[in-house]
Amino acid sequence: MSFNIYEPGTVSRSTLAIPSYNYGPGPAPLPPAVLSKINSEFFNVENSQVPVLNMSHRSPEFTRILQGSQAALRTTLLVPETHSILFLHGGGHGMFAGVPLNLLSDVEKAASGVHGEYLEGGTWTDRAMAEGGKYATVKSVEKIDRKTTAKYVYLCSNETVNGTEVRELPVLDTATLVVDMSSDICSKVIDWDRVGVGFGCTRKPDDD
Ligand SMILES: Cc1ncc(COP(=O)(O)O)c(C=O)c1O
Repeated sequence: MSFNIYEPGTVSRSTLAIPSYNYGPGPAPLPPAVLSKINSEFFNVENSQVPVLNMSHRSPEFTRILQGSQAALRTTLLVPETHSILFLHGGGHGMFAGVPLNLLSDVEKAASGVHGEYLEGGTWTDRAMAEGGKYATVKSVEKIDRKTTAKYVYLCSNETVNGTEVRELPVLDTATLVVDMSSDICSKVIDWDRVGVGFGCTRKPDDD
């Protein structure tokens, strides 16, 4: 197998043989400058002659990549130091399970009075609730009560299937607000003071 390595800035969509844009609601197109940079640095990170996929995840080179990515995202999304930035596998569906698994203790998961609330919005919230219901008591709500006794309140800020949008995030007295930002992250300023957990899946598959 042979690879072409291009200098950053020298690559267009046609040199990379990318025939057209994908206007589907799944993966977003990356700018040629970004593709070009990935291409040129993929096989030789920081002149180490080591492809990024062959690196130890504990190496100083990879640690710099990780920390640099976290810092760039923190700056872009104005994420305060009160919130950690994690890159996780599992996509959106992984988080549908990860929310109750991490926000409720083992005792709370089994307790009948402890629950998570899901704001009705459409397909993705329904799927999140179905998955979350495997691990905790979950309830669907039509509107959010600031004083709810739920452990967490879950909403999808932009429903790609049903076209519903939550423009202003709610304030909650005690419950943790969880926001699925998969399809509007980076498109608007986020009020992080109101958000306990915000997540977005990346590079969504075509069939979604
Ligand atoms: C708003 C929203 N949430 C969740 C998902 C599911 O993410 P994944 O396909 O990574 O499980 C999608 C997928 O398109 C989505 O649009």
